[in-house]
Amino acid sequence: MTDLTRTDAVRRHDPAVRGFASDNYAGVHPEILAAIALANDGHQIAYGEDDYTAHLQDVFRRHFGDKAEAYPVFNGTGANVVALQALLPRWGAVVAAESAHINVDEGGAPEKMGGIKLLTVPTPDGKLTPELLDKQAWGFGDEHRAQPLAVSITQSTELGTLYTADEIRAITEHAHQLGMLVHVDGSRLANAAAALGLPLRAFTTDVGVDVLSFGGTKNGLLLGEVVVVLNPERVRNIKFLRKTSMQLASKMRFLSVQFEALLSGDLYLRNAGHANAMASRLEAAVRGIDGVEIVRPVQANAVFAILPREVSERLQKHYRFYFWNEHTGEVRWMCSYDTTEADIDGFVAAIVEEMGRV
Ligand SMILES: Cc1ncc(COP(=O)(O)O)c(C=O)c1O
Repeated sequence: MTDLTRTDAVRRHDPAVRGFASDNYAGVHPEILAAIALANDGHQIAYGEDDYTAHLQDVFRRHFGDKAEAYPVFNGTGANVVALQALLPRWGAVVAAESAHINVDEGGAPEKMGGIKLLTVPTPDGKLTPELLDKQAWGFGDEHRAQPLAVSITQSTELGTLYTADEIRAITEHAHQLGMLVHVDGSRLANAAAALGLPLRAFTTDVGVDVLSFGGTKNGLLLGEVVVVLNPERVRNIKFLRKTSMQLASKMRFLSVQFEALLSGDLYLRNAGHANAMASRLEAAVRGIDGVEIVRPVQANAVFAILPREVSERLQKHYRFYFWNEHTGEVRWMCSYDTTEADIDGFVAAIVEEMGRV
């Protein structure tokens, strides 16, 4: 037994403390931990030839249709970079919202690791439309312009908003007419399914999405995301791209078994639905506080607000969260699968108290 397990005294953090900085701050859901333990012991073939990864294909086909192929990877940036490379030739570019994670939060990985040019479009709410797509989808055949051969949208978006199934269909139809392929960054796809009340395939496979990055980490996994190919005729060679992008896990059974636990029953919906419900609770309570403005629609598990900067800074001494926009003072509050009603109520009481000191 190691020192770490021998005594509680070595626990490095207070397990009762939860903030609103990110859904990545949460720990691992107990059912996921149990699944990892279940897959432990004994030997399994490495690099994805194991029985858990084989079974995972059935799990993903049940959710995304008979043609779906599932490729587990370590993280969301890796999933996006692998998926996008499969959509583009070396001269290709991907159109995305300016606020897209691939543009603002991946350290340039799509450009550096994937060699991909990003063509971005400002949006009011983090969502592309066919009209917004057209702002960058031009110059086909002109060798002086990186060829806009793919589009990437995020569901739910980085700004906490949702696309309806019809809105995604409008984008895929338009993109396909232009000869472009469509990627969905589904880091929070489960939050979208819970919020829309739709099966996962209803706003992906069934509306023409070609490939997606399916998130697990933000929804209770230890780590892991899955590149899900929905259109294998057009999206090929993921297994080679995954390896050369350093996203091929040798002990893949431990990634795969987590997704099996998440998706074989309703855990993905329970976790995501709970996170969404906590965001709604926070929104409803904060709307009643004078001087605090909710500045974006709350459609998934994120709440964006503007309040006096000194109030935010005082709150941050007790609750972690980030400024989203340093210039406007906009902050982002994220809820996760383990956020409790008491966490929300305590945070709201703290906001009320601090606003009273303004
Ligand atoms: C929209 C979106 N995509 C992808 C990711 C995954 O990124 P990471 O590489 O940190 O797992 C995140 C995480 O914050 C995200 O918000």
